[in-house]
Amino acid sequence: MYFPNYRARRLRQNENLRRMVRESSLSVNDLIYPLFVVPGSGIKEPISTMPGQYHFSVDTLVDEVASARDLGIPAVILFGLPETKDEFGSSGYAPDGIVQTALSTLKNEIDDVVLITDVCLCEYTSHGHCGVLKGTEVDNDATLELLAKQALSHAQAGADMVAPSDMMDGRVGVIRMVLDEEGYTNIPIMSYAAKFASAFYGPFREAAQSTPAFGDRRSYQMDPANIREALREVDMDIEEGADIIMVKPAMAFMDVISRVREETDLPVAAYSVSGEYAMIKAAAEKGWVDEKQVALELLTGIKRAGADMILTYFAPQAAGWLRER
Ligand code: PBG
Repeated sequence: MYFPNYRARRLRQNENLRRMVRESSLSVNDLIYPLFVVPGSGIKEPISTMPGQYHFSVDTLVDEVASARDLGIPAVILFGLPETKDEFGSSGYAPDGIVQTALSTLKNEIDDVVLITDVCLCEYTSHGHCGVLKGTEVDNDATLELLAKQALSHAQAGADMVAPSDMMDGRVGVIRMVLDEEGYTNIPIMSYAAKFASAFYGPFREAAQSTPAFGDRRSYQMDPANIREALREVDMDIEEGADIIMVKPAMAFMDVISRVREETDLPVAAYSVSGEYAMIKAAAEKGWVDEKQVALELLTGIKRAGADMILTYFAPQAAGWLRER
């Protein structure tokens, strides 16, 4: 009886062999943990659309960041829910804003976690759009100045890295220029370069209370059908001085991660967004999938696709699972 020379199963016979030929691996070093900070104290309020995620006040946030650090997670990214909102999102760049306050406290109390901030106006504007309005349109160029102000105020409060997620054209360049002018030449920019207008952000909008009051984000975020355009976005952000390129979401955009990986030698980040997390949580709660196996498979798939780092709400759980191994 004829058998081919190559038998793929030879190297799958036991876990040691499988470990030897494993092509990609997930490590705690890859994880960035997104966190939501609210005014007040003693608050750790569950987010209903994202089981296991919370709104933290600054004091409880410090504890959460400390335990992430103890798990070996190298970085967190902060989202703020401000006390007040207005047309211009001014609470987003107030020196005593919620993210700024959290940063200065974290900076004092915890010194070995990279503090990244999400730079965007949608959490701070009364209309929930990511920039300022001109009629019912988001005004690209008028927004740039405010984003740069916000990024600068984060750096001044102690951010180690800024991550613009607004998708205005030219924002990376303007943020780089303002940071440099003010002496923050060493603050890297992680650019949400290929950010798609995705329904997978649904659970986050509840977490960040940032649903647009009218319309949607399709005039600034990308059409999920496009990949060549994603590469142009990436080129543009690299030219403007981005240090890390992000693709978002991850799960439905693995091909984009993979193409971006081929096109650039810069570090590539992928954001496994709220909907990816919520779907796994919901199915696991029903007993339909194994949460740990499915989450680790997703994160490993994102690594295989080419990401160097992953923003994921599973960060602390994944760090724990990786430790057990
Ligand atoms: C802010 C921002 C959003 C997310 C990250 N930054 C929401 C949006 O663009 O509507 C989504 C994150 C997630 O769904 O986990 N613009």
